[in-house]
Parts: sequence; C-alpha cells; structure tokens
Amino acid sequence: MAEVLITGANGEIGHSLIRFLAEEGRYQVVGCDLREPTAELSRLCSRFYVGNILDSQLIAEIHQNHCFDKVFHLAGLLSSSGEKNPYLAHDVNVNGSINILKMAQEDANRRHKPVVFMFTSSIAVYGLLGDPNPDRALLEHENVRPTTMYGINKHYIEQLGEYFSVRDKSMEEQRMVNLDFRCLRFPGIISAESVPSGGTSDFGPEMLHAAAQGKPYACFVKPEARLPFMVMQDAVKALLDLSRAQIGDLSRSVYNVNGFSASAAEIRERVLRDFSGADLSYEVVPFRQQIIDSWPRDLDDSAARRDWGWQPDYAFVKAFENLLIPAVKKQYGA
Ligand code: SER
Repeated sequence: MAEVLITGANGEIGHSLIRFLAEEGRYQVVGCDLREPTAELSRLCSRFYVGNILDSQLIAEIHQNHCFDKVFHLAGLLSSSGEKNPYLAHDVNVNGSINILKMAQEDANRRHKPVVFMFTSSIAVYGLLGDPNPDRALLEHENVRPTTMYGINKHYIEQLGEYFSVRDKSMEEQRMVNLDFRCLRFPGIISAESVPSGGTSDFGPEMLHAAAQGKPYACFVKPEARLPFMVMQDAVKALLDLSRAQIGDLSRSVYNVNGFSASAAEIRERVLRDFSGADLSYEVVPFRQQIIDSWPRDLDDSAARRDWGWQPDYAFVKAFENLLIPAVKKQYGA
C-alpha cells in the first residue's frame, strides 16, 4: 500500500486529516510529531515517530524505513508563538521544512516519480498595512508582504517548493526537480474538537470553546477585527481535494481557500446566542492586534474554485448552526 507522511500529525489539522485518510484505507499513514500520539492516532497510523523535524537522525530513520507517495507537511510554529520566539520559528518553519522537502525529493528519486508535497501556508503571507482598500478579498498575487516571522517563513517555503516543483518545467528541467509541490493558503481555522495554540486567529475558536465550557474569556483583539475563517472539515476537504487534483488542471502551485469572513464581534454574538450567560470580554493584546491589522479581511479563492472545483461546505451561519455549536455542546455536555 502507498505510504503517506503527515508531519505535525498530533496537531489540529493533522488529527482530522489522519482520520479521513485512515477511513479511506488507501494509504499506510505515517505520523510524525513532537508529542506522543493520542491513542486514536496510534491506532490509525501504521507507524508514528515522536521527534523534531530538525533532528537529522530522526529524518534519516524515517527515510530509511519508508518511501512516500505523498507528504502533508503541517508541522510548524504559528504566528503569535513565532513573534515571541522568532529564531525558533525560523528554525522549525524553514529549516524543518527543508528537511522534509529534501526527504521527499530523495523518495521521488528512488521511485522515479514526483512526490505530491502538500504544504500548509497562510493568510500571514499577506500584508495590508497602508492599503487604501483593506476590505477587499485578496488574490494570491496581491499584497504579498508578510510582516511576521511566521508569514515570512511560509512565503519562503512556498517559493522554495515552487523552485523544486515539476509543474510548468520542461522535461530537461524536470530532471533537476522532482516534487509535485502544492500549497494552500489557509485562513483561520475553527474546529469543534480542539483549540489551536500560538496562532493569532485563535480568538475565534477560543471564544467558542470557552463559552461552551462556561469559562470566562478575554478576546485579545478588538471587536471589529475581521479575518477570513473556515471550519476544520473544509480545511481537510481542501487538502484532500488539492492533493488528488490532476496536475494538468493546476494553473498554479499556491492557492487561497476561504470559508467565510467574520469579525470578533460577529463570532462573539453568534456564540452568545447559544451560550447566553458566557463571560466573553475584550482585552486587546497590542502585538496580536497589530498582526490581525496586517492580515486580509477576506480572501479571493476563485483560482481554486476554477482549477480543482474547490467549494467550502460551510459558510458562517451553517458553520455555527449545523456544526460548531452542536459539536461543542456535545463535547462539553453544555
Ligand atoms: N492560524 C494561523 C495563525 O493564527 C494563521 O494561519 O497563526
């Protein structure tokens, strides 16, 4: 059976993606994460490596034991953590990514076939500051001016992935490169099952989970702070759909995907409709507000819709009404 590697397997996206891949039963799923796998992940993965993607011995061990058809490289340090620890973020997000890119290239050489390399990038590659029209939905080439270490790292790996990608290269050039590099620029992701850690879009999921648990929560950005978001189900769908698209249908390597655009106040109001007693206040953290001010308020994902039929299943109302609120109520017995 073909093997697929998921880095950051124990993270938010990793967990959900592995569930889908394991259910599908087409792959041997190999996980890698800093943290020990949960019991569920141990069951779903054919092998799980606990360790750091900066550890060359670990990478060598994985490489020796497997030959991957596909890689989903999800491991990374998010934007707020990256601002607190920029050199560590650079190490993990750039040098760690290079280790995984290199391993995938060696696998492609062994197999004489490009490896599909899925990379999760972010709205953090954009920079809005000084834009006279900050409310518009940005296309992939517009305002690419990252202001955070995380955004800079993501943008660099996007470029490196394209450099090593077979797409749009002649046969001659394809001898030098060997990755089928595909990348999604994700908005903030909201999951009913978990809360992210170290991101700046985290105020959305944090409000929802705190309210459902009856815990007070102070939102770290202003009520009017607006971001594009999507639910985890749509994020996993986007990863799977793009990873399965025909290479000939792809007009680019890097695609925006979006679910809906929402402000902190809109999320708060929606959450309060179901958890009316929830104590949700605001306590702005300036460095995090500054990050949000630099990020797009909306994303134009028409290229993904056109090329590989991308379509989110959940807009704002449906996301909260049909998915997030019922799921958190169930999870916390609220
Ligand atoms: N969710 C990420 C963060 O907030 C952005 O992609 O850092």
